[in-house]
Amino acid sequence: METRASSPISHREALRKAEQSIAKAKDAVSKDLHRLKYHFMAPAYWINDPNGLIFFKGEYHLFYQHYPYAPQWGAMHWGHAKSKDLVHWEHLPIALAPSEPYDNHDRGGCFSGSAVDDNGTLSLLYTGTMIQEDGKVVQTQCLATSQDGITFEKYEGNPVISAPPEDGSADFRDPKVWRHNDLWYMVVGSGKDGEGKALLYKSANLREWDYVGVLAESDGRIGTMWECPDFFPLGDRYVLMFSPMGMGHHKTIYLVGDMDYETGKFTWDQMGDIDHGFDYYAPQSFLDGKGRRIIIAWLNNWDWMPWYKDFGPTYQNNWCGAMSFPRTVELEPDGRLKFSPVEELQVLRREHVHLGNTKVTPGKSVLPKYVASDCLEIKAEFELAGCKAEEIGFVLRASEDSTQQTLLSCNLQTKELRFDRSRADGWSEGVQTAKLEAADDGVLKLHILIDTSVIEVYTDGDRTVMTNNIYPDPGSVNLDVFTVGNDVVMRSIDIWKLSSAW
Ligand code: FRU
Repeated sequence: METRASSPISHREALRKAEQSIAKAKDAVSKDLHRLKYHFMAPAYWINDPNGLIFFKGEYHLFYQHYPYAPQWGAMHWGHAKSKDLVHWEHLPIALAPSEPYDNHDRGGCFSGSAVDDNGTLSLLYTGTMIQEDGKVVQTQCLATSQDGITFEKYEGNPVISAPPEDGSADFRDPKVWRHNDLWYMVVGSGKDGEGKALLYKSANLREWDYVGVLAESDGRIGTMWECPDFFPLGDRYVLMFSPMGMGHHKTIYLVGDMDYETGKFTWDQMGDIDHGFDYYAPQSFLDGKGRRIIIAWLNNWDWMPWYKDFGPTYQNNWCGAMSFPRTVELEPDGRLKFSPVEELQVLRREHVHLGNTKVTPGKSVLPKYVASDCLEIKAEFELAGCKAEEIGFVLRASEDSTQQTLLSCNLQTKELRFDRSRADGWSEGVQTAKLEAADDGVLKLHILIDTSVIEVYTDGDRTVMTNNIYPDPGSVNLDVFTVGNDVVMRSIDIWKLSSAW
């Protein structure tokens, strides 16, 4: 088939050029003051979805969508890093670069996918994207393997799935593979006639795949195309996660239900948002050596325009994008999910401040000044029984004169968690809200992770999570607790300064 691919290049040569480009840029990038301290970033340039997450031979591997030539999306490569503890990461050579007719084009490349351990061979399943002469986008599923976990060879029989089934469309991407009994299974994201779908395949050898059918699909409410589907058992149930296109501010959805491998059908009875923030997309899961189901997501999403506004000011310093801190996924007794930052974060805890029972009064500051930092973990509990306050919250990343500040608040009247970044930095925009269940309980617990340019918030027993990027000046580090309308009792607060993991 004719393609508009750039002139032929070997995979090895494509990787070498990409590495050179990163090597030239990375020292200057590392000096940028918005670089994160404990969230994963590429050494330079563009990053989007996490790919190929796997606990392999005792180490965590993270691959990621990567454009190694500019701080913007382009022909997709797979960056690669590994870690022993999910906190400290070591960059490895780029694993995949566009090089073949089926994955080589400046608007195509090696799109998202997953990794499995095939009897000691680290095997990557990814979407090859090419654009034909007539402009048509062709997405196929491809395989690459590695014996040493570092150097990957593309399978000579690629693509392993060369066309979408009747149930799907040209949007046919992001294979997630797992093993069940003696077979490999793959779910691929697609959509047809305005309904998002997860398509199911099976294989005995990762090379020949049989189409099973539609695992699950939208019922008119859950988006038009399901990007990055992920399917896994949890407790006695199954979970399907995906990033729906065309579902407004719902960017990451989970469904909980039951799987019938005989029919290849997943029937679900619970739906929820994985994260309610502006900047959390394409989470991927894996099982680690401790039996934990862990997810990592891209700290951005596609919706905002123009793109430079959406993806933050860091492109001016040749980098763009990062990963969320890893979260465990657990099933609650009522069938919902909770998401908690992995406990390994504690290795970064340094100075600690604890305050016990403290009355918070409107207009009065509570926290000592010395807790100020751009890298913090905060755990706070507020007494809601008998509380007459309208709103309780935190002023975060505030400048001395308060012209820069981010407000995180819990409105007890509207029963909403609210994140207002409209005065964060002169760049970020928008207020994000989520339903706050704690407003009906006796106690409000907040767990907040602050890093240089991101804030992750966990509440409602980790059932409500919200992640947003902000880009304040490095000196805007003040924080305090506030209440509106009446006093509130803060039962306790613990604040840890976190050291850098890099
Ligand atoms: C999700 C996504 C995937 C695709 C990749 C391309 O963010 O659009 O569907 O494979 O990004 O980089």
